[in-house]
Amino acid sequence: MMMRMSSSSPGPARPRVLSGIQPTADSFHLGNYLGALRHWVSMQFDHDAFYCIVDMHAITVDYDPQILRERTLGSTAQLIAMGVDPRQCTLFVQSHVPEHAQLAWVMGCLTGFGEAARMTQFKDKTAKGGQDRATVGLFTYPVLQAADILLYQADRVPVGEDQRQHLELTRDLVGRFNHRFGETFTLPEPHIIKDTAKISDLQEPTAKMSKSASSNAGIVDLLDEPKTSGKKIRSAVTDSGREVYFDEVEKPGISNLLTIYSALSGRTVEDVAATYDGRGYGDLKKDLAQVVEDFITPFRARTIELLEDRAELDAILREGAARARSVASETLADVYERIGFVPATPSESSR
Ligand code: TRP
Repeated sequence: MMMRMSSSSPGPARPRVLSGIQPTADSFHLGNYLGALRHWVSMQFDHDAFYCIVDMHAITVDYDPQILRERTLGSTAQLIAMGVDPRQCTLFVQSHVPEHAQLAWVMGCLTGFGEAARMTQFKDKTAKGGQDRATVGLFTYPVLQAADILLYQADRVPVGEDQRQHLELTRDLVGRFNHRFGETFTLPEPHIIKDTAKISDLQEPTAKMSKSASSNAGIVDLLDEPKTSGKKIRSAVTDSGREVYFDEVEKPGISNLLTIYSALSGRTVEDVAATYDGRGYGDLKKDLAQVVEDFITPFRARTIELLEDRAELDAILREGAARARSVASETLADVYERIGFVPATPSESSR
C-alpha cells in the first residue's frame, strides 16, 4: 500500500476523490460552478483530491486544435481562480499522464462491445448524426473515464446524475478485473452531486443552464464582463404575480434566482426569500445582479492574471502531472504484471 501524504492532515489517510471536466468551452458558466465545481473546491480540504482536465475526452467529437489548447489552459486557470488550490489537491491535464491511455486499452479489452453500446450518453450523442458518423473514441469514452478513476484508486467520484451509468460501468469493470486477476482496484462510489443547486437557464427556467441552450442570454459565463452578467440577471424571465417565494412549479424563474442567490451568499433560500417579502421581483433581481458581479469580478481578474503568466501555469501543471504520474504509474505497473505482460527491463546503459 502506498502511503498517502497530506500536508494539512497527518494521521489516517483521507478518502481519495477523483473527478474530471472537459475543456470544451471558453468559459465555465454559473451552472458549472454552482452545480459541480464548487464541490471540487470544498472536497479538496477533507479528501486526497485528484482533479483532471480531460483533454483526451474532448477530442472524441469535432474540435479545433488551437481552441482545445486555449481551453485546456483556460480551464486550468479558471479552476484555480475558483479556489481549486494546487497545494491542496492534484490538478493535472489528462494527456500529460500517458497511463490513462494505457490503462484504457486494458479496460477496453475487458469491456463488452454490447455493454459499451448500451451507454445512454453515447446513444444520445449519436442520435442526431447516426452511429456511423461517430468515432470509435466516442464509443470507448466511458472506458477511458473508467481508467481515469481506477488509476488513482479513487474512493469517491463526484459527478452529475448524467454520469451515473459511466460510474456503474467502472464499478462493473472493477469487479471483473479483481475477480479475474486478484484484488487490484478500489471500488469507487459515485458521489452524485444532488441538485441542491440545480441552476436553470435565465430565459428558459424550466431547462438546465447549459451551453447547448438556444440563446446566450440565459447563461451567465463566468468570464463575461461582470456588467454583462449583471444585466443578464436583471433581464431574467420571471413569473406571473409579484410575490417572492420558492416554488419550482409555480415560479420556476424566481426559484432559480433564489437558488443562485442562496448558493452564492451561503444564506438559505428561505432566508433570502424572506428579505424580499412584499418588495417584488425588481429588488431581488437588482440585488442578485450585484451579488453575481461581486463574485465574478475577482474570479475574472484572477483568471486573466493566471493566463498572463504562462510559465507559472506550466509549472503548476508540470507539478500536478508529476504527482498524478507517481500514483498512476504504480497502478499501471501492478496491472501489467497481473495481466501477464512481461516487464520491460531498463536498458543496459541506465542500469
Ligand atoms: N465524463 C465526465 C463528464 O462529462 C468527465 C469525466 C471524464 C470524468 N473522466 C472522468 C468525471 C472521471 C469523473 C471521473 O462530466
